[in-house]
Amino acid sequence: MIGLLDRLARPLLYALDPEDAHRLAIRLLQVAPLPPAAPDDARLATRAFGLNFPNPIGIAAGFDKHAEIADALLRVGFGFVEVGTITPRPQPGNPRPRLFRLDADQAVINRLGFNSEGADTVLRRLAARAKAGGIVGINVGANKDATDRVADYVGLIEKFAAVASYVTVNISSPNTPGLRDMQQAAVLDDLLARVIDARERVTKNAGPTSVLLKIAPDLSLPDLDDVVGIARARRVDGMIVGNTTVSRPANLRDAQSQQAGGLSGRPLLRLADRMLAETYVRVEGVFPLVGAGGIDSGANALGKIRAGASLIQIYSGLVFRGLGLVGQIKAAMLAALARDGSRSIADYVGTDAAAVTAEAWPV
Ligand SMILES: Cc1cc2nc3c(=O)[nH]c(=O)nc-3n(C[C@H](O)[C@H](O)[C@H](O)COP(=O)(O)O)c2cc1C
Repeated sequence: MIGLLDRLARPLLYALDPEDAHRLAIRLLQVAPLPPAAPDDARLATRAFGLNFPNPIGIAAGFDKHAEIADALLRVGFGFVEVGTITPRPQPGNPRPRLFRLDADQAVINRLGFNSEGADTVLRRLAARAKAGGIVGINVGANKDATDRVADYVGLIEKFAAVASYVTVNISSPNTPGLRDMQQAAVLDDLLARVIDARERVTKNAGPTSVLLKIAPDLSLPDLDDVVGIARARRVDGMIVGNTTVSRPANLRDAQSQQAGGLSGRPLLRLADRMLAETYVRVEGVFPLVGAGGIDSGANALGKIRAGASLIQIYSGLVFRGLGLVGQIKAAMLAALARDGSRSIADYVGTDAAAVTAEAWPV
C-alpha cells in the first residue's frame, strides 16, 4: 500500500514546485487511510536517553515542522518523529523560492529560514495527541529577530517539556543569520547551562525530558572538541549529527547546486558520517548519538550506525525513494542481524567509527 501510494503520488509531486509538493505530501499523509506498518521485530528495538524506541529509524526535523502529521508518520513505521523546528513566535521564513530539488545529485538545498506557525499553535496540536503515545521529539529554535536567543530556547523547553519525548536544541540551521555562532564555546556553555537548568526546573511537573544538541557537519575538528567537551560537562542527553551543510562537494552536477542554503541528501553522506564518527570517538559512550545526513538505502543506514549512531534520521532520502525506504532499511537491518547471528541492532553501534576517522577527509 505504501509502495502503491509512492508510485501514484511521486510523478505528481515531482511535477510541482518542491515546496508545494511538500505541502501536498503532508495533506496526503493527513487524509490517506494508510494501513499501519507491521509490528517491529524485537531485534530492532533500542533504548536511548531513557526512551524505548521500537526501531531506530526516525524522521528528521523539517519534514513535519508544525506537528501536523506525527501520528501518520508513526503509523507508517517510523520509530520516532522529530517535529519542528518550532520558534516561540510565528514567523514566515525567507522569501520563496527557498527549497530546491537537485535531481541529478539526489540532493536538496533549502533556505527556508525557520518558517514556523509558532509555539502556541504547535503546542495545542501536540497536547491534543499527547495520549496517542509513540516517541515524538520537539526541535526548537530562536526567532530571527530575537533579542535574547538563549531566552527563546529556555522558554521553549519550559513550554514543551510536558508533551515532548525529548527536546532538540537546534543551533545548526545555516538559514538564520548568526545562529551557528551559538556553537562557539562561551556562547554554547551559557546556552546549555541555562537550557539544562530550565529542564531541571520543569521536571517536577513535566516529568523527565531528555535534551539533545543538534550540530552542523561544517564544524572544524577543534570546534568539535569544544562542543563535545561542553556537551559532556553540561550533561546533555545526546547529540544529533547533523544538520545540512553549507559546503558544496566538488562533484555536484545539478544546475541548482549553487543555490544558497543547506545541502542535504546523498552528497552529504560522507561528510555527515565522518563528523558522526569524529563525534563518537570524542563522546566515549557518555551519551548516544543520532545520525542524520544522506541516508537513502539500507546499506548506508547500517553504515551510519556503524559510524556511531544509536538512532538514525532521514529526510531527503524520502524525497527520492518515497516512504518505502523505511521498510527497506528495516529489511536490510534484519538481513544483517540474521547473517551475523546478532541479537540486536545496538551491537553495530560505532564498530566502524575509528576506521571512518582514519579515512581521507571527504571533499
Ligand atoms: C527542506 C528541509 C527542511 C529542514 N528543516 C529543518 C529544521 O527545521 N530543523 C532542523 O533541525 N533540521 C532541518 N533540516 C535538516 C534535516 O533535519 C537533516 O538534518 C538533514 O536534511 C540531513 O538529513 P538528510 O540528508 O536525510 O536530509 C531540514 C532539511 C530539509 C531538506
